[in-house]
Amino acid sequence: MEDHIEKILFTEHQISERITELASEITLNFSPYTITNNEEALLSSNSSWAAPVVVGVATGAFLFLADLVRKIKLPISVDFVRVESYGSGTVSSGKPKISCDLKIDVTGKHVILVEDIVDTGNTLSCLIKHLKSKGASSISVCTLLDKPSKRKVNFELVGEGKFYCGFECPDYFVVGYGLDFAELYRNLPYVGILKPEMYS
Ligand code: PRP
Ligand code: MN
Ligand code: MG
Repeated sequence: MEDHIEKILFTEHQISERITELASEITLNFSPYTITNNEEALLSSNSSWAAPVVVGVATGAFLFLADLVRKIKLPISVDFVRVESYGSGTVSSGKPKISCDLKIDVTGKHVILVEDIVDTGNTLSCLIKHLKSKGASSISVCTLLDKPSKRKVNFELVGEGKFYCGFECPDYFVVGYGLDFAELYRNLPYVGILKPEMYS
């Protein structure tokens, strides 16, 4: 598998360190003290503070989600949605399909959508509309990688939602740490550039 990789872009260590930073930002921004100015809110059952729902976009976000939530020092819920738009190719179909919906009711809750990569923006734009229609009180996005050079659709965060990004990604076809080509390479512990001869 390693010999299919042209170059490692983000090592296991770099990813881990960056996730620690993202998780502390999230912990701070969603702490009951920040949100309600009430230190007791966490313990009080009738407070207005509700545990944020961290939603992983399957399949790509599974490793990032698992590593991120372990470093968030707050009560949170975890759920998944499944969206697909690339199938087994390297180009977005432009029509993401929600093939598996949330289990948790997000009405009135703060949602943090977790992605491995934002490319054209189609997936997030579709998901944000969907979660907004379910009545989420805020929608944030936390993505490991962002490829702004490929953006085709802008998405608007909801309420006080923020955009958290691990790394800006140069415009190569990258795999590893959740990212696939034709469902392979997701289990690499790092993000790397796939050798073009592997998909051309
Ligand atoms: C990939 C990636 C993101 C999305 C980003 O998912 O995991 O979810 O594409 O692309 P976009 O910004 O152009 O929409 P994919 O559709 O390949 O499904 P997967 O997560 O199961 O690999
Ligand atoms: Mn995906
Ligand atoms: Mg994919």
